[in-house]
Amino acid sequence: MAYEVLVPAELEEDPSLTVVRDSTAPDGLHFVHGEAAKPLATPWQVGAERAALLNPERLPSGVVLDVACGSGVQLAALAAILERPAVGIELDPSRARASAQNLRTVAAWFGALNAPWFVQSRVLVGNGTNAEGVLAALGSPGIGLLQLDPARPRNSRTHDLEEMAPSPNEVLSAWAPLLAQGPDGPAVLLDLSPRLTHEQRLSLEAMIDTHLPGVQRTWVWGSRGGGRVDRLSAWLGGASTPEVARRFVRYPANGSMPLIVEGGRALPLGEDLPEQVRRPPRRGEHVSLVDAALLASGLAEPWLTSHLGAEATLTWTAVEGRRPQVHHDAPLGLDPNQRGLIQASGRIVAVVHHAPNEGNIDDLVVMALEHDVARLTLRCTLPADVQPKLQGSLDRQLSRRHGRRQAFLCHAGQGPEVHLLCVGPTVQEGTR
Ligand SMILES: C[S@@+](CC[C@H](N)C(=O)[O-])C[C@H]1O[C@@H](n2cnc3c(N)ncnc32)[C@H](O)[C@@H]1O
Repeated sequence: MAYEVLVPAELEEDPSLTVVRDSTAPDGLHFVHGEAAKPLATPWQVGAERAALLNPERLPSGVVLDVACGSGVQLAALAAILERPAVGIELDPSRARASAQNLRTVAAWFGALNAPWFVQSRVLVGNGTNAEGVLAALGSPGIGLLQLDPARPRNSRTHDLEEMAPSPNEVLSAWAPLLAQGPDGPAVLLDLSPRLTHEQRLSLEAMIDTHLPGVQRTWVWGSRGGGRVDRLSAWLGGASTPEVARRFVRYPANGSMPLIVEGGRALPLGEDLPEQVRRPPRRGEHVSLVDAALLASGLAEPWLTSHLGAEATLTWTAVEGRRPQVHHDAPLGLDPNQRGLIQASGRIVAVVHHAPNEGNIDDLVVMALEHDVARLTLRCTLPADVQPKLQGSLDRQLSRRHGRRQAFLCHAGQGPEVHLLCVGPTVQEGTR
């Protein structure tokens, strides 16, 4: 079937498309969306950051091709920042029109309405897996970067690789032989579900090896905070970074520069989640509560080791849930920009043998004051109606006194009753 080809540079605005504010986009950059496409769209901040992380010198020359471009937000960010023509393909005609309009919006925002990349950009309405048909409609431009963000079933916690539309297997089978070659072979950016299990990621690795044998790869975990992995992607060949098997990207809510951790081992060597150990806590050792999304990327141990030294012993007393907990001998000194990757860190000054409750909270205040504590945060699991009451009581009582340090109470990894009082830097140091 022939493709309808939209030329964003010659487009009239379509008033039927809905304008929706993307809270991650700068003022003045507003995107439109076709039929039910807004929830699928890549946030501008993520798209722009991805484009900035690509090394143009390692990308083969040619266009950016997005074979399932949705509203085209990711495609427009890549094309505008890399200054390469965009080719988007989208099954749904209203989403394809939105892509064309968004490309225009982004080009205008970059002052690039006459730039060759924009003038040469195209959006095709139809099936992105029919490579021959697409090339016949476009006259075979070189493809410098293949981008795929397939639609996934919504509202399901788990899903199959086969449920992605279009399927990465079909897309790679159609397009891999047609991609331009750079110093690291072709370049591909595969957006995947953050919910893929390690086994599913390994199946993807095997599928990648079928179509692009031995291609270099960097797996990227993205998080907006709260310990959640929000995005998972595989960057292949010219899109990958040599020697970087894994990357963790934390996007700050205020739109500022993301925090990036890189390193780790190739995925087939292991999931690299730390093992939980049960052993009694030792007074004087340090406890850190680590970001759960960083842990999921397999980069928590290399990251901690880079700050604590290769000889440091890391003992994990919790690896699941919201508060992964690691014990180590030396304090964890972090630059302010890295502190977002830990929820709290401090030295064990006391073992508390009862879970906090309204009957014993005053004893906890006394113990905190003995250790010069100005603020004690409860970082242990408590019933939702009890937690705020106890925290409020601690805050009120400690604010009237003259402690200087920040502290937290966490589980000891020895059953529900045993807790640890851990003391960190002074309030001023912690907020600096
Ligand atoms: C997750 S969305 C892409 C969102 C996009 N990254 C953005 O920034 O807006 C995936 C899109 O793939 C489209 N799609 C599914 N199968 C397709 C196919 N075979 N060919 C082209 N597009 C397809 C869907 O209609 C959907 O709009």
